[in-house]
Formats: sequence, C-alpha cells, structure tokens
Amino acid sequence: MSLPLRPQPCLEVRQLSVSYDRRCVIDAVSTVMHRSRITAIVGPSGCGKSTFLSCLNRLSDLTPGCRLSGSIRLDGDDILSARTDLIRLRRRVGAIAQRPNPFPLSIRRNITMPLEHHGLRHRDRREAVLERVLRRVGLWREVRGRLDQPALALSGGQQQRLCLARALALEPEVLLLDEPCSALDPVASGVVEDLIASLRGATTQVIVTHNLAQARRLADDLIVFWTDEGRGTIVEQGPADAVFTSPQSAITAAYLSGSRG
Ligand SMILES: Nc1ncnc2c1ncn2[C@@H]1O[C@H](COP(=O)(O)OP(=O)(O)OP(=O)(O)O)[C@@H](O)[C@H]1O
Ligand SMILES: [Mg+2]
Repeated sequence: MSLPLRPQPCLEVRQLSVSYDRRCVIDAVSTVMHRSRITAIVGPSGCGKSTFLSCLNRLSDLTPGCRLSGSIRLDGDDILSARTDLIRLRRRVGAIAQRPNPFPLSIRRNITMPLEHHGLRHRDRREAVLERVLRRVGLWREVRGRLDQPALALSGGQQQRLCLARALALEPEVLLLDEPCSALDPVASGVVEDLIASLRGATTQVIVTHNLAQARRLADDLIVFWTDEGRGTIVEQGPADAVFTSPQSAITAAYLSGSRG
C-alpha cells in the first residue's frame, strides 16, 4: 500500500513528562507520529524508550508510582483525559512489550480469548483469525499441532511472536512494538521485519529498536532519545533518511555512527 504524499499526524505528543515515584525519567518531550508510517525510536539503554511507548496506550497506568503530565492526542483526542475509554484505546493502539507477556493460557486461548472479549462470537471465525495471525508471524507450522498446550512452554522468541499475533488479531490502528526482534533468530527476525514492512500504509507503527540497521531498513521517521542525568529527552527527529544521512546534533551523529551510546 502506498503512503499518502503529505504525512498526516496520528499521535501528537506535547510536553510529555513521566516520573516513577517522583523521579523524572522523561522530560518534556514533544513529537508527532504519522498515520500509516513506521516511526522508529532509538537511543541508549535507560533513556525512556519503553516508558514513552507505554504512555501511548496508557499501559503506563498499570505501573504503580508512574505519573504523566503533558498531552498525547490520538486523532485529536487527548488520551490522557480521565474520560478516555481504556479498553477502546488499547484496542485501537495495540502493543507488544519488550519482554514477552503471553497470558498463562493455551496458545489458542491467547489469541481467541481477546477476540471473544471484543465481541467475535463465532467460533469458526475466531479459529480462522487464529490460523491467519499465527501464519503471519511465522508460527503456524511450529505450533499447529499443540495449540492447546500452555503458551508459557514456548521459547522466548516464540512467545514474542505469539504476542505479536495476539496484537494483530484485534487489527489495531496503531501498533507499538518494543524491541520486537530482540529475542528472535535471523529467520524469525526476517519474518517479523517483513510483516512490519507489509503493514506500512495500513497501520501506524512505532517501533523501538537497538538495531540501527533495522531502523534504517524499516523507518520512515526516526526519533532519537537521549538521557541527561537520567532524564530522557528527544535530541533529534525527522524523516529517517535525513536523520541518518545528515544528523543535526553531534550526539546523534556519534550515536548513529556507532561511536557513542
Ligand atoms: N517500573 C519502573 N519503576 C521505576 N523506574 C522505572 C520503571 N521502569 C523504568 N524505570 C526507569 O525509567 C528509566 C527509563 O527506563 P526505560 O525502560 O523506559 O528505558 P529504555 O530506553 O526502554 O531502556 P532499554 O533500552 O534498556 O530497554 C530508567 O532509569 C529505568 O530504571
Ligand atoms: Mg526498553
């Protein structure tokens, strides 16, 4: 699917600050993630990338002591408002976490239970989605003979792909991917990367990765986080090609060249 000529804002973040137990870890960041494009977030460990991602569908609410200020607009609506319907928000903005977190249920139920919860009543249709999404993440052949076995018995990389399949099953408008390939071998990593590329033009994706080559292959837009005495900030952002080829800040230049971070 082709991208619109002029990028449209999907998620607009203004002056977002985040603290854990009053310790500020993200300091007044502002950015825009565009509809149907792939935005990659890179930066050194501990600079707040996962924290930032968790704010975009309010999973941050589940962390005790985590406080947010600023605004995050999804299609113009401030999702930080107390009136936000969190179930609807998390259906629209799906996520896979840095550490795989399958439900302690069977492989099948990991996919079919959320579908049931969101109103897909026909068993046959749930089963069809199950097969489709497991195929998309390259897991079907590995697990089709043991769909009723515990998901937690899968390897880390298989669990990660199951979580991606679970997110895809609900057809989110926005997909947040935190290091989706870090636990994967090169073959599975290639499958997931191709899948992310294939969703370009249809789904807004925000991917955190430590793999700069992967960011370069996938990203339409790039956001570079940095940390100043534990406070995460954005040091550079823009179209990925421009940031990679002519970074404006010395920190970004050193980081993207591999000499820092
Ligand atoms: N649940 C939590 N409670 C307290 N502090 C936390 C919590 N989660 C993260 N932090 C702190 O917030 C800061 C940012 O962490 P975060 O996990 O967002 O970084 P990151 O950029 O994703 O790092 P990495 O690349 O290693 O995954 C770190 O100082 C971390 O110790
Ligand atoms: Mg992280």
